[in-house]
Amino acid sequence: MSKPIIILGIESSCDDTSAAVIQDGKILSNTIGSQKIHQQYGGVVPELASRAHQQNIIPVVHQAINEAGIYKNQISAVAFTRGPGLLGSLLVGVSFAKSFALALDIPIIDVNHMQGHILAHFIKEKDGSGNPPNFPFLCLTVSGGHTQIVRVKDYLNFELIGETIDDAAGEAFDKSAKLLGLPYPGGPLIDKYAKDGNPNAFTFGIPKVDGLNFSFSGLKTSILYFIQKKTKENPQFIEENLADICASIQHSIINILMKKIEKAAKETQIYDIAIAGGVSANSGLRMRLTEMEQSHQWKTYIPPFSYCTDNAAMIAITGYYKYFNKEFCSQEITAKARLNI
Ligand code: KG4
Ligand code: ZN
Repeated sequence: MSKPIIILGIESSCDDTSAAVIQDGKILSNTIGSQKIHQQYGGVVPELASRAHQQNIIPVVHQAINEAGIYKNQISAVAFTRGPGLLGSLLVGVSFAKSFALALDIPIIDVNHMQGHILAHFIKEKDGSGNPPNFPFLCLTVSGGHTQIVRVKDYLNFELIGETIDDAAGEAFDKSAKLLGLPYPGGPLIDKYAKDGNPNAFTFGIPKVDGLNFSFSGLKTSILYFIQKKTKENPQFIEENLADICASIQHSIINILMKKIEKAAKETQIYDIAIAGGVSANSGLRMRLTEMEQSHQWKTYIPPFSYCTDNAAMIAITGYYKYFNKEFCSQEITAKARLNI
């Protein structure tokens, strides 16, 4: 039997410090140290994020290796997020990966965070189970920093066919939540309150944007004016209508996303559709996509919750596919805050 390929993945692009171990495409561990410190500031504070990564990185990697039940000298390569993300945060993961690999004399593999979100669909569980999409497929990648439609032709062959021209979908959730007085990150809270609300209680305008691109800044402004007007009339408006407001905001964001992914499917004639990124954890979006299986005969792919928000397993699986192509990088590599898919 050939030697197993074991990849250690490192992710530190925003406010989650994560390490994961993948053996021959199967997950052995996926450890995430989330940073609570940002909640009180209503958003991620870059300087605090990099300091927290610095504190977390060694214990998180230790835990990932221990949980995987492997020895360090069994690791074939270290995959790390090169970008896009916060530069100070990325630097911690990149520097750690380089020194760790140098000490073990093993190769390093740079990974694009957005490709990682997409390839999370190919992670197999320990028993070998999974739900990998067929190529080619379209992926709607929706996170706190990005909103993209990507045509995925093969494991490492991506074409960006649409993206946001202003805010990301996750930002639309988080900024709306902030207007309602909810803590950061507000996306999961809007999702929670929306479950008890009426999605048609309030309506917000849908932006007109050309092609397959998105825009969310107009929605944010229209929610702001709506809240200002309503709370002037009734200072208790938010408390009394929280579920309906959340359901209506969520409904509007999902409508914007679904309209464009439907258009993309029609134009490309690709009906294998995946979602990825933090917002793909949203229960409303997951439900709407599943409904398209019946109404439009799409084949849809929804990642398990643990692989939606930032995690190193998605970096390790991307590293695994790059390992086969011998796509290693040199020790001279640097982090990049902006990086195209
Ligand atoms: O992919 P991710 O963890 O980090 C980035 O790469 O940005 O995405 C984080 C985003 C945040 O905006 C967060 O509010 C959003 O994903 N999010 C959600 C849900 N869970 C996370 N948005 C809506 N509903 C959720 N259940
Ligand atoms: Zn992400």
